[in-house]
Amino acid sequence: MLIRNVHIENAAEPSDVRIERGVFSEIAPLLLPADGEQVIDGEGNLLLPPFVEPHVHLDSCLTAGTPRWNESGTLFEGIAIFSEYKPRLTPDDVKERAMRALRMMASHGIQHVRGHVDVSDPHLTALEPLLEVRREVADFIDVQLVAFPQEGILSFPDGEALLRRAAEAGVDAVGGCPHIEHTRDMGAESVRILMDVACDYDLLVDVHCDEIDDPASRNLEVLAALALETGLAERVTASHTTAMGSYPDAYASKLIQLLVRAQLNIISNPLVNMHLGGRFDTYPKRRGLTRVKELAEAGVNVAFGEDDLQDPWHPLGNGDMIDPVFMGVYAAHLTGYDQLQDSYRFVTHNAARALHLQDSYGIEVGKPGSCVIVAAPNFYEALRTHAPVTHSVRRGQLLAVTSPAKTKLLF
Ligand code: FE2
Repeated sequence: MLIRNVHIENAAEPSDVRIERGVFSEIAPLLLPADGEQVIDGEGNLLLPPFVEPHVHLDSCLTAGTPRWNESGTLFEGIAIFSEYKPRLTPDDVKERAMRALRMMASHGIQHVRGHVDVSDPHLTALEPLLEVRREVADFIDVQLVAFPQEGILSFPDGEALLRRAAEAGVDAVGGCPHIEHTRDMGAESVRILMDVACDYDLLVDVHCDEIDDPASRNLEVLAALALETGLAERVTASHTTAMGSYPDAYASKLIQLLVRAQLNIISNPLVNMHLGGRFDTYPKRRGLTRVKELAEAGVNVAFGEDDLQDPWHPLGNGDMIDPVFMGVYAAHLTGYDQLQDSYRFVTHNAARALHLQDSYGIEVGKPGSCVIVAAPNFYEALRTHAPVTHSVRRGQLLAVTSPAKTKLLF
């Protein structure tokens, strides 16, 4: 396959890209097509590595409004509504919704997904169908699954045993939810337990950590200290960490230094954090986000996820990674020109690093020939116009084609 006339990752000059046997084989201007070679005209548009969705809930997606809508817009009402949904959760239901959501994501050029599976369920109802989905979609999307003890490891009956059962069943990462545990001590202890499980089963770690506007919620320091102590380091991710938006500056400064040393990844979910955050404030209302800008400037790897697609925690969402970036650059004050141009990295390279994909990810000769063409010459324009992904290519195979909408002014 030859992709002609594209600007690779905001490059000023256009280039051509050749993919042979599923691998990037040549990147240079004005390459000539070989006999019978498939040619895609990039029309001077932007070429990026595939979008990565590093944080989404595949078991709850597409359930918004069932059995009821989350009218308070709080995390806690969301958890209560999903508990009410659980009796109607069946393997077929989970599978059907997850497949629909993953196809939606694929249509927007996402080729890598990290999905959290709620394991606060004695029957682990969603786990087996999602393990099946992971296998069945492998040709068009890579899925990692995180065992997510949504209602706690110590505060939910047999929480640790359920986490270990999920680890044995073949998840890719161990999760946690320490701020939901009954006490601070239980929160810290739950982090120790989940890190033990990760070490025992040699798994990645991705913890819903301090997702609360409470400056006293400080489980992230425990996770970071253990990431250092165990050597798991960059295999560990903390998602949300929204309490950091409420920490005193002196403490945040100390904590960020620890995160740098521990090489922890942070995943912020700007859409859901803005939606759920600040709900207990009158005025001033907090934004509910972690310190994205300060973390990134200090050298911490920060990625953005969409988190929830039409479920009790997010009534909107459509699997398009432009949306969390758009919200994130506003919410985190990343609206300088270079910041806007670079902001695609939150949902490409940075997200790939959090998922430990970096060796097989990126537009470089020798790497898997996977990329997307976005209908704009650079990411600033893509973000401004909410440009669609016109072509999604995976290992040299065209997965999805979208024609941009055209408006004709009739005056
Ligand atoms: Fe989440």
